[in-house]
Amino acid sequence: MNFLWGAATSSYQIEGAATADGRTPSIWDTFSRTPGKVKNGETGDVACDHYHRYPDDIRLMSELGLRAYRFSVAWPRIVPEPGTVNPKGLDFYSHLVDTLLERDITPWPTLYHWDLPQYLEDAGGWPNRDTAYRFAEYAALVHDRLSDRVTNWTTLNEPWCSSLLGYAAGEHAPGRTEPGKAIEAVHHLLLGHGLAVQNLSGKVGITLNMTHVTPATGSPEDADAARRIDGLQNRLFIDPVLLGSYPEDVVKDLAHLSDFGHVREGDLDTISLPIDMLGINYYSPALVAAGNESGGLTPWIGAEDVRWVDGGRARTTMNWEIDEQGLLDLLRRIQKDYPAVDLYITENGAAFADEVSADGGVHDAGRVDYLSRHIEACAEAVRDGVQLKGYFAWSLLDNFEWAHGYGQRFGIVHVDFETQKRTPKDSALWYASRIKRPL
Ligand code: FCB
Repeated sequence: MNFLWGAATSSYQIEGAATADGRTPSIWDTFSRTPGKVKNGETGDVACDHYHRYPDDIRLMSELGLRAYRFSVAWPRIVPEPGTVNPKGLDFYSHLVDTLLERDITPWPTLYHWDLPQYLEDAGGWPNRDTAYRFAEYAALVHDRLSDRVTNWTTLNEPWCSSLLGYAAGEHAPGRTEPGKAIEAVHHLLLGHGLAVQNLSGKVGITLNMTHVTPATGSPEDADAARRIDGLQNRLFIDPVLLGSYPEDVVKDLAHLSDFGHVREGDLDTISLPIDMLGINYYSPALVAAGNESGGLTPWIGAEDVRWVDGGRARTTMNWEIDEQGLLDLLRRIQKDYPAVDLYITENGAAFADEVSADGGVHDAGRVDYLSRHIEACAEAVRDGVQLKGYFAWSLLDNFEWAHGYGQRFGIVHVDFETQKRTPKDSALWYASRIKRPL
C-alpha cells in the first residue's frame, strides 16, 4: 500500500517575515499585539524565519525522508489589500513548491490556517457572508498559479477553532466573544469551503479537528453531555460537508443563540459538493460528564454545563491527555458513519519541554512514544478496513503555538529561536526510520 508520510506546519506559525514583499497584517498579527492575548506578548513576526530559510528546511525534510509536506498559504501575502493580487506572495509559494518537487516531496497546501486578512475582519470577519466569497476568489488565485504542480488541496484547517475559539471564546484571533456571531462564522467558513471547492481541481479536502467523545458514566446525563460535545466538535462541521445538513440536535442545542436564519437556500448544496479527502487532526480524546461548577463562556457554546473528566493518563505540556485508543475509535467511527472519502491524519503530535542536551541531541523519548503509539493505532485502523491514506506529524518544527507562544514545542525538529538553529530531535530520527517501513 502506498501510504503517504509527511509533516505539517502552518504559515503564521513558522514563516515570520511579517511585512516582507507586501504582506499586510492578518488577524493573528493584530491579536498577538493585543496585550494579554498571547503568552509573554509573543508574535509571529519572526517565528522560524521559514520565509527566508525554506530551502534549508526542505533539505532537512528530504534528509528525513518525508514524502509529503503540509503547509498553509498566507492569504494576506496573496491578497494584501481588497481586490489586489500580490505577485511576490504567489512567487514565494511557487518557489516553495518547486523546491519540494525537486526533492520529490509532495506539496500539500492548506488555503486557510487561520490568518484572515485584517481588512476582512474589519469588514465583519467570518460572521460576514461576504468573507466566504472573498475566500473562494483567493483560493482560485492560488490554484491558478500552482495547479500545474499541486494536485492535493485542502480548503480550511479546523474551522471549529476559527469560529468557536475566535468568535465565541475569544481565545484565538480575532478574540471576539459573540456566540451568535460564532455560529454565523461556522456557516460562512463552511460556505467558503464549498465555494472554493468549485474553483479547485485535483483532489480536494477539508481538515477538521475531531475527537472521540466518551461519557464518564452510563448515566443519561453524561450520555447527553457526550452527545452535545460530539455535536459541537465533530458533527456540526462534518455533517454539512459530507451529509449536506446540520445535525438537528445541535441546531436545537444552539437555538438560544441562533435561529440559523443566516443559512440561505442552496448553501448546504454548495457546502456538500463532493470532495475527495477528509483531513483529521487528532491530539487527545474527550471524557465528559454533565455539570460544570465553573460555568462561564467556553467555546462549547450550548454545552457550558459539561465538564471534562480526567481519564488518568499521562499528559503533554499542553495538558492534553495521551490516548491513542481515542484515535483508533475515532477512525473506526468516521469510516462507519462517513464512508465516502479517503482519510488522512493531517496533524498528530505532542508538546514537551524539549532541550538541547550537552551531547548536542534532543532526547524527546516522550514524543517518540506518543508518535509510535498513534502510528500503530493508524496501522490497526487500516487493518480494520479504514480508508486511511496518509499521516502528517505535527509539527516539522517547533513554532508559534498560537496563544501559548513559543513555549509549547511540538516539533520533531528543535528550533533555537535566538539563533534559528534547527536540531532534529530523537523523534525526527525515529520518524525517519519508521517511515521507511510500510504502515
Ligand atoms: C491544531 C492547529 C495547529 C497546532 C496544533 C497543536 O489545532 O491546527 O496549528 O497549533 O493544534
